[in-house]
Amino acid sequence: MTNAATTDDSHGTSIRLDGRVAVVTGASRGIGEASARALDGAGARVVLTGRTTADLERVAAELLHDPVVLTADLAPAGAGTDLARRILNEVDGVDVLVNNAGIPMRRTPAQLSEADFDLVFSINVRSLVMLSIGLAPSMVARGGGSVINISSVAGVHGPLGRVAYAGTKGAVDAMTRALAADWGPEGIRVNSIAPGLIVTAIWEDARNNVPGLIEDLEGQIALKRWGFGDDIAEVVLFFASDASRYVTGETLVVDGGLARVTASNTPARLPELED
Ligand SMILES: NC(=O)c1ccc[n+]([C@@H]2O[C@H](COP(=O)([O-])OP(=O)(O)OC[C@H]3O[C@@H](n4cnc5c(N)ncnc54)[C@H](OP(=O)(O)O)[C@@H]3O)[C@@H](O)[C@H]2O)c1
Repeated sequence: MTNAATTDDSHGTSIRLDGRVAVVTGASRGIGEASARALDGAGARVVLTGRTTADLERVAAELLHDPVVLTADLAPAGAGTDLARRILNEVDGVDVLVNNAGIPMRRTPAQLSEADFDLVFSINVRSLVMLSIGLAPSMVARGGGSVINISSVAGVHGPLGRVAYAGTKGAVDAMTRALAADWGPEGIRVNSIAPGLIVTAIWEDARNNVPGLIEDLEGQIALKRWGFGDDIAEVVLFFASDASRYVTGETLVVDGGLARVTASNTPARLPELED
């Protein structure tokens, strides 16, 4: 890293979510952990889900508003529907759903197997939509709600070696728009956030072991730094709150200027642009 981190106390928000119930999938680390902390910090009661109970309990232990921990693997068929049922056994209803759990699938086209394809789609797509469908009636009963899907810039530009992952994230953005159409009349807003390069476990091995990777990719970002979980969590708060009450069916790219902005470590200089 060559630029300052942004996990200090200089950031924050005045958004309040007191009395709301928010579900965060994949809340045990990374973007999901940051989102759970931010939602709790704004006053929401958070339901944390993921596969690893101890990691979820570590996060929940620092939350203030009676958090709920539910361990669930979202890969098997039926997992999204089953988790929705278990959530509604624990809380009266849900106002906010952050569909964050997801896995990367770095494979060249030649390396990709059907099993790889099925696994990444089962977690990133199938369970995401079935959990949303399972929780939507409780949102309607509470007068509406907000579904926030975490997609990726991989669904916006064409990444190398991630055809199946990119497919899942493009599907998430497409389903975001479709569900916004289905549920808008019932007061449920559905939006997605497409993060860029965020420093989490997904990148840990590559950042530690590929020489020059950190600086190389940083050079492709207009703001010249990788993102952190908090950079996404504050946008989650925006979509969770009434500040975004007239926004639905949108995908907000949160990438510091990576996917749709020209940025390079060595920008080509046109003569007419020189002083
Ligand atoms: N980091 C980035 O640069 C980046 C960029 C764009 C988009 N994203 C997206 O952001 C989301 C979060 O990524 P992250 O970087 O925060 O990843 P992460 O640190 O690896 O966290 C992933 C979370 O998902 C949970 N999870 C994984 N497999 C699961 C399964 N089968 N069932 C239930 N939960 C499961 C993990 O917990 P357990 O392992 O305990 O289950 C963990 O809580 C993902 O959807 C990812 O695609 C990340």
